[in-house]
Amino acid sequence: MNDSLLDREVALRDVTERFGQGHLFAWWDRLGREERTSLLEQIQSVDFQQVRSLTDTLVQQAVPQEPAELKPAPILRVPRDDREREDARKAAQRGESLLAAGRVVPLVVAGGQGTRLGFHGPKGAFPIGPISGKSLFAFFAEKILATQTRYGPTVPWYVMTSPENDAETRRFFREQAFFGLAEDQVFFFVQGTLPAVDREGRILLASPGRLSLSPDGHGGTLPALVRSGALEHMEQRGITEISYFQVDNVLVRVLDPVFIGVHAGAGAEMSSKVLRKACPEEKVGVIGVRNGKLAVIEYSDLSRQDMVATGPDGRLKYWAGSIAMHMLQVAFIRRLHESGIRLSFHRADKRVPHIDAAGNLVCPEQPNGIKFESFIFDALEFAANPVTLEVIRSEEFSPVKNATGVNSPDSARRDLMELHASWLEEAGARVPRNPDGSLAVKIEISPRAALDLRDVRERFRPPPAVTGDLLLEEAPSR
Ligand code: UTP
Repeated sequence: MNDSLLDREVALRDVTERFGQGHLFAWWDRLGREERTSLLEQIQSVDFQQVRSLTDTLVQQAVPQEPAELKPAPILRVPRDDREREDARKAAQRGESLLAAGRVVPLVVAGGQGTRLGFHGPKGAFPIGPISGKSLFAFFAEKILATQTRYGPTVPWYVMTSPENDAETRRFFREQAFFGLAEDQVFFFVQGTLPAVDREGRILLASPGRLSLSPDGHGGTLPALVRSGALEHMEQRGITEISYFQVDNVLVRVLDPVFIGVHAGAGAEMSSKVLRKACPEEKVGVIGVRNGKLAVIEYSDLSRQDMVATGPDGRLKYWAGSIAMHMLQVAFIRRLHESGIRLSFHRADKRVPHIDAAGNLVCPEQPNGIKFESFIFDALEFAANPVTLEVIRSEEFSPVKNATGVNSPDSARRDLMELHASWLEEAGARVPRNPDGSLAVKIEISPRAALDLRDVRERFRPPPAVTGDLLLEEAPSR
């Protein structure tokens, strides 16, 4: 062993011992040279002071949670009358002019591990197209292409990955020829990681030479934008707003003029979309005003009393479920960074495969480990003039979270086909349906053929006859 490796080993053994993490060297004698070097690099990348303070506050529960005062949040509702429709039209115009000026970019967070779905590969590569089998990434890319065709400027797309899936994600984009986008308009940036710990705060080992590291949550977007230079890249290009969305929602409007417009019109530093919860128990965070500040209250933090409470209209008091779509000002992210504001971490109890004291790999059936994650929506409390916009579920939200059942590939495909069928029906087509109202055929419209109902109306005249499964890949040339 050369001296420098030995020096590093001695120094890092010392650090780990001081922080009660000396077991990370338990298998040192069995490791080859490369594994040793890699282990030292991983250990060096850990901020042990941070792990200790997260363990103290979140694992040992040394700091009890303050009870919070909660109130419903002001929400811009789906337009119900002519005046509200006119406001939405004006907001859309404002959004469209920002899109035409190239000021807004889409950003997808795709660094998650997708454990519930259990798909081998980055979640964005999941084949979601009901007929085409096209991936989630392909849908987003084609929506971006359609948006730039409509408004003019090339739209840079920011894609956040994690160290675990970065190489695979990039490979997938390359293999798919960037889904028709130019290679240099896609900017990948990698989020940070934190070690997972057991209930005593000891860092888990994934293998003798590998720490169990996991991505630091979607809140990791903010530091990763700064660290990677992506934020500076935006600033240099005169980009002022980011349209943030998750990789699992095939219905997402990647660049929604109304949302962009209401956000920019209010001078909001950050804005959010919400929809009416399907039932009190639906597992989404709700938007409320917590201790005087707009916030997303996680499903698990909402008391039963607040969950079922009703307002004067007899409907749910906290009805507004957050769907993880936000507009963020580039200047807001810069401001948070420069004023040293960091999002706090939350505890997530997960099943974490690890090696036990005898060196055997354990794949637990129940949560055994704790991961630390920050959440992007926690930035809301720091934002000036935040706007919350209500949207319609069937038009915008159907996430792929689970392998089966609710929020699964099946439900997402069904919702996508229903949306596309509704566009055709509104444009005058007759779509075969079963007696219970469900679709009797499969229908899929590529975003290249039509981004929305407006495109269907303009491009498909007369609307196509639907006699069997229908995949519209391109609009007819005129
Ligand atoms: P989820 O909370 O659904 O987590 O992420 P997940 O990792 O995808 O899935 P499970 O919980 O392991 O089954 C919501 C969105 O945030 C992104 C995900 O990629 C998804 O788009 N995300 C989550 C990140 O980018 N990084 C993270 O550290 C966590």
